[in-house]
Amino acid sequence: MLKKVVEIAHDILKSHLNENSVAVDFTCGGGNDTLFLSELVKEVYSYDIQFEALEEAKKRCEGRSNVFFFHKSHAFFEEDVTSFDAGIFNLGYYPKGNHEITTDKDTVVETISKALLRLNEKGILVIVCYPGFEKGKEEAEAIMEYCENLVSQKWDVFLFKLVNRNQAPFIIGIEKH
Ligand SMILES: C[S@@+](CC[C@H](N)C(=O)[O-])C[C@H]1O[C@@H](n2cnc3c(N)ncnc32)[C@H](O)[C@@H]1O
Repeated sequence: MLKKVVEIAHDILKSHLNENSVAVDFTCGGGNDTLFLSELVKEVYSYDIQFEALEEAKKRCEGRSNVFFFHKSHAFFEEDVTSFDAGIFNLGYYPKGNHEITTDKDTVVETISKALLRLNEKGILVIVCYPGFEKGKEEAEAIMEYCENLVSQKWDVFLFKLVNRNQAPFIIGIEKH
């Protein structure tokens, strides 16, 4: 059986990381992705707008001194990160929290565009989209449209998607040459 989408996202990230890498978790949530990254890299910068999510993430990452948490929107990551090697946007809502509080397509697309300017050569941005609810579907479409227009001389953009399951989460990867 195929691995879960988040495991596949982690495999993709892992192949781009080493102990000197800087990583960004643009949507910390409960901190699964942050913890995963923190075990492989030098530093992780992790963002969430929800205090409760960050509290859970901090507990999960207890003892890891290479993680920096920020209780603010990923839109402001440039205040903290000058350059990075790998980043993840695991979109949607905090499963244990209010499902109405979800990532916003305009903010996400704008933040992706800013993140690409700070991504190091050979670096990767992984975006996990959840088209199974209306806002998530619109968000996924907006991100796809943005990514399809990235110039191929500079970026490789790939899609990992179950083509026989419309509503299933899927992964967009953006690799800098
Ligand atoms: C699907 S969860 C992330 C899962 C998480 N990475 C994990 O490993 O458990 C999405 C998270 O994005 C957060 N979020 C929504 N808008 C955000 C924003 N503008 N900046 C940062 N985080 C945001 C939500 O609060 C939610 O916790």
